[in-house]
Amino acid sequence: MFRQSGTHLRVEFHLDRSSPVPLDRQIAQTVREAVQKGQLQPGDRIVPIRLLAKHLNVARATVDSAFSILIAEGYLETSRGRGSFISTKLPLQENFDALRLEPKTDEPPKPKQVGRHAVFCAQALDDLSVQPSTPLAIACTSREASPGKDFTDFFARNVQHHSLKLIYSNPQGMPELREAVCGIAERLRGVKASPEQVVITTGSQLGILMSLKILFSPGDKIWIEDPHYPLLRAAAATQDVCPVYVPVDKEGFNLQTALQFEPDARGVFLTPSHQCPLGMMMSIQRRREILQWASASGGWIIEDDYDSELRYGGNLAYPSLQGMDAGHNVVYIGTFSKSLFPGLRLGYMVVPPELVKAFSGMRFLIDRQSNEILQMTVADYIRQGLYEAHLLKMRRVFEARRDYLISVVQENFGDWGHFMATGQGMHMTFVFHNPQLDDEAVAFECRNQGVELRSISSFYHGKPVVRGLVMGFGHFPPAQLLAAVSRIGFVLRDKFAAFAPEK
Ligand SMILES: Cc1ncc(COP(=O)(O)O)c(C=O)c1O
Repeated sequence: MFRQSGTHLRVEFHLDRSSPVPLDRQIAQTVREAVQKGQLQPGDRIVPIRLLAKHLNVARATVDSAFSILIAEGYLETSRGRGSFISTKLPLQENFDALRLEPKTDEPPKPKQVGRHAVFCAQALDDLSVQPSTPLAIACTSREASPGKDFTDFFARNVQHHSLKLIYSNPQGMPELREAVCGIAERLRGVKASPEQVVITTGSQLGILMSLKILFSPGDKIWIEDPHYPLLRAAAATQDVCPVYVPVDKEGFNLQTALQFEPDARGVFLTPSHQCPLGMMMSIQRRREILQWASASGGWIIEDDYDSELRYGGNLAYPSLQGMDAGHNVVYIGTFSKSLFPGLRLGYMVVPPELVKAFSGMRFLIDRQSNEILQMTVADYIRQGLYEAHLLKMRRVFEARRDYLISVVQENFGDWGHFMATGQGMHMTFVFHNPQLDDEAVAFECRNQGVELRSISSFYHGKPVVRGLVMGFGHFPPAQLLAAVSRIGFVLRDKFAAFAPEK
């Protein structure tokens, strides 16, 4: 309690000098709370700065700064000759309370109508929990895979030097990043486009959602690979399109099967370079077929090329479908979530010239534009050649981890199944030999043992054709991979012995 004749500060201050919150903010917060609790009333005079500074054993400038904050917020007023006092125009809690309508207790509340998509959006959150960053999660990050000091230096420099220039800008994205993206997409993925065709996004997810909105009308049928990326399924459910799920085989998506399921589809979502989650590449023959279909029917191909920058052992991916297409039938979606880190929330699309305006307009309506500091930072990082150097480093680290994971799985429970395509990306799928083995139950038991696993079944809409486990390996050092694999082996032998391979 601190009083002084004629002036009041009926408040106890507990300043924490070790806190990262500066002392002036702590003083201001204490006065604010005292006003809110009614300990200080409008019109109360406050002890002079000099005395309060002495009492609190802080510099006068500190109290001066605290008072300035409180004046700016409307808590304090000053008047020459009268000193400082609690504002008489303060929006007090009682005043707010008086404005609030009382709920009617005599009639039941009316049921509220919401749009039909609300339920799908809420459902998506339940269905698609974010994986914790523990082995063997897929989308996470690690120190070895961090873009490092160069990246943070660019970021800091851009904040320092350009923040005054950073205003609302072109929703399509900053020209320097679009140009840089065009370069890497061409060099790494054979994409053929000009920077004018690039639209910067906050990641593939936005690209998927915008494609659903821009390319299709309610009721349009679209083919979706089965299995597929679960966020695509959830996004499609929030639009009024009709997804038709088409089982993939070892060559990926098959147009002939798709046509049998639905001959009048208006478009197709594909992961042709690294089928999600099974991992195979769509064969050249199948690629030609789907491109010819698009050209002949006017259908759209949406190419989700989420991790093709990460290829191992000289495994050459085919060029992107976009790069093979002669007729602007492909909307290409790329992301920095795998090659840099998912929390960056930066990705890109390459769209046919006639759709640039529509995609940019949609981008504008959704959230105006992507973060400019990040756009400039990634543009700098690419233009200095550091992005491609970073990819080389990641490929080396990830390849060694991939090899290690394969070898320890082989030793531990290799006879239970086999890995599918292992040439790229940050995850691999281990397919069980015994199709009766419930992969969801195995994944569940493993998660209980602290191993973050997804079942292959959870990526299917229809009846799973193969069952097994989806293992992320990129961000975990060998010791952690080994511990996780040992636990999976233990779970299989302990809980699923009935499905064990015959010796
Ligand atoms: C098939 C597929 N597409 C895209 C992404 C990346 O999404 P985003 O760029 O929104 O982080 C992932 C991430 O796991 C994925 O598996």
